[in-house]
Amino acid sequence: MQEEQAYYLNQICSENALYAQQNGKSKKCLIHTFGCQMNERDSEILFGFLTQMGYEKTEKESEADFILLNTCCIREKAESKVLSQLGELKKLKQNNPDLLIGVCGCMVQQKGMADTIRSSAPHVDLIFGTHNLHNLPVYVYNLYRGKGRQITVLEQEEAIQEGMPAYREYPFKALVNIVYGCNNFCTYCIVPYVRGRERSRKQADIVQEVKQLVKEGVIEVTLLGQNVNSYGLDLHDGTTFAGLLRELDKIEGLRRIRYMTSHPKDLTEELVQTIAASSKICNHFHLPVQSGSSRILKLMNRRYTKEDYLRLVALIRRYMPDAAITTDIIVGFPGETEADFLETIDLVKQVQFDSAFTFIYSRRTGTPAAIMEDPISLEEKKERLQRLNDVLGEIGRHINDGLEDKVVEVLVEGPSKTNTEMLSGRTSTNKTVIFAGDSSLIGRIVKVTITEAQTWILKGALAE
Ligand code: 5AD
Ligand code: SF4
Repeated sequence: MQEEQAYYLNQICSENALYAQQNGKSKKCLIHTFGCQMNERDSEILFGFLTQMGYEKTEKESEADFILLNTCCIREKAESKVLSQLGELKKLKQNNPDLLIGVCGCMVQQKGMADTIRSSAPHVDLIFGTHNLHNLPVYVYNLYRGKGRQITVLEQEEAIQEGMPAYREYPFKALVNIVYGCNNFCTYCIVPYVRGRERSRKQADIVQEVKQLVKEGVIEVTLLGQNVNSYGLDLHDGTTFAGLLRELDKIEGLRRIRYMTSHPKDLTEELVQTIAASSKICNHFHLPVQSGSSRILKLMNRRYTKEDYLRLVALIRRYMPDAAITTDIIVGFPGETEADFLETIDLVKQVQFDSAFTFIYSRRTGTPAAIMEDPISLEEKKERLQRLNDVLGEIGRHINDGLEDKVVEVLVEGPSKTNTEMLSGRTSTNKTVIFAGDSSLIGRIVKVTITEAQTWILKGALAE
């Protein structure tokens, strides 16, 4: 496969080099990435391919020769964003018929979606799903050869592809896939249908990749999986997530290890002990609870109860009292009553989450929950979301207030988005800290004294 990829990449690269020579500029590409870090990581690979083809990265649609939408379908809102963007690209294509437009990712992996886009968006040249992104070189080659629209979505996942190129945005931190797909089939969730079954990468491949990244200057890695806790189980050779973490922990020069996402049903005491014993694995548990009502959790097929979740939190606090705990919560799951919702509020107050991503339930065609009765109005769901966010905000603020005057270690990521004069970075607990400092600190871990707590961010001053 890699030889084939290299062949097509070389062919395209020579043509693009000729174009650059004749036009005095290289071709430019732009990828719009929607959704989660899995998609971000996929976009790094897609950018890697495009760079090898001789494309330069641009942020401006108007100067792009190739625009790719890497899509998400986790909620309806994510899909409507893609569709409206796709509509806008139509005008661009009218002005520039040579523009290549591609759509890939989770949204097109849904049954029938590729056909819908094929017929409703004739300006789209290229469609591929989540299982065949490594074929981008051949699709682009075929487009260059005038072989017509390239539309291929595989129903089933293929073997894991190692050794793909990547274009990483940050030199000092990196995303690393460890397990693809999901076997959990939470009843509201589309992911298992668009990302396939769980497939773990070999531990040796992951360790080698991280070592290489560290050699290139990376000090923080984020390990990615829909459920990292089940990493390795499909390999049937004794590989486990805790074991992988212990191996990565030994890598000299690596300073921080993060991971996303952890399913509460598979979080073991051994894992908590491993994390507690490591100085590199961050002091942060992102542990999506989804609901505080055991009745709703059962309907969601989450396979734990409110009490199980609270026991887990107690376990974490026993080993790591300073760890931040964050979560995902869905309000308005079909049939959620006021009493169910109050169970969620109660759980949130008991756990004292540092922060949470909160969502209104969004019906996904093809999932079991899509056909459950859902008598609650959207108005009421919005009102519940607001009440929940108010409680979370108060708790978050209270926890952050406790950090004032404390000295924390911050990995400096770059200028602050809201004030480019300031630097922004993250603590081990994944809190954003804004402080004044020289841009030479970007990519380093520095000590910062917290001077002012806000609900979702901290302000500070360099301590050294
Ligand atoms: N509606 C709303 N939120 C959802 N999530 C997943 N599926 C849905 C849906 N159909 C949320 C869950 C998950 C996060 C990534 O997205 O909270 O943890
Ligand atoms: Fe979706 Fe549940 Fe799998 Fe997470 S664990 S991706 S919520 S099905």
